[in-house]
Amino acid sequence: MHMLEIRNLRVAVGGREILKGVTLSVSSGETVVLMGPNGSGKSTLFQAIAGNPKYEILDGDILLDGESIRDLAPEERFAKGIFVGFQSPVAVPEVRFAFLLQAMLNIRAGKKLTDPNPQVLAQAQKLAAELGLKPEVFNRGVGAGFSGGEFKRAEVLQALLLNPKFVILDEPDSGLDVDGIAAVGKAVSRLSASGSGVLLSTHYARVLKFIKPTRVYVMADGRIVLQGDENIIKKIEEIGYKSYFEEIRQEL
Ligand SMILES: Nc1ncnc2c1ncn2[C@@H]1O[C@H](COP(=O)(O)OP(=O)(O)O)[C@@H](O)[C@H]1O
Ligand SMILES: [Mg+2]
Repeated sequence: MHMLEIRNLRVAVGGREILKGVTLSVSSGETVVLMGPNGSGKSTLFQAIAGNPKYEILDGDILLDGESIRDLAPEERFAKGIFVGFQSPVAVPEVRFAFLLQAMLNIRAGKKLTDPNPQVLAQAQKLAAELGLKPEVFNRGVGAGFSGGEFKRAEVLQALLLNPKFVILDEPDSGLDVDGIAAVGKAVSRLSASGSGVLLSTHYARVLKFIKPTRVYVMADGRIVLQGDENIIKKIEEIGYKSYFEEIRQEL
């Protein structure tokens, strides 16, 4: 059985159909890459999996371990083990980052909110050092004055601390320097080695230096148009989506 299964998913935003029947699956320990031109619907898919109510499911299903989660609230999906690192994370400057981390752990464990536990903080500090994040981020508001790179690293830190069943990372390598990409790559390898399913989007073959995808899907205009291995990523980086789609059309 697949860990995450998306079945013929159709999703509308503001009354406009964006996903027009997406089917894909990710099993435990897999690292699956989703590619596609800007606006093809990658982030929409991730929002729909997270349960953002702005994204209306018209048809199809989302299954986690064979059970439908399409009618669950976002926090219920999170409690079941789905973590989504968004492309443009929302800043919540009035909540300290340390408090958010503890709250996430408590919510997942079905416990009441508490102040940050010193052991959790110690573990978070260790992860921060590995990811190249300054220790003072924990005392700052969530996203308060975070640089693009700090945002991305902070999301990966959350994923590592939670070690969720299923991790989604929306363009985790965008805006990161080489060290940042290496750190993200290492984190993804660690998560998949621990049995998490990983689904991530990217535009760049540079991640392949650090991530070994088990499968690559390509999306265009709200549909999966192709599935294959990492050679797809290399080819798209080399010639671009437009030429790539033309080549495929000619081959068919
Ligand atoms: N919250 C939203 N409000 C309005 N339109 C949206 C929203 N989210 C996505 N869209 C639209 O859906 C389409 C797909 O966007 P998106 O999923 O962000 O693509 P990608 O992540 O592949 O670049 C775009 O046309 C975008 O404008
Ligand atoms: Mg996107």
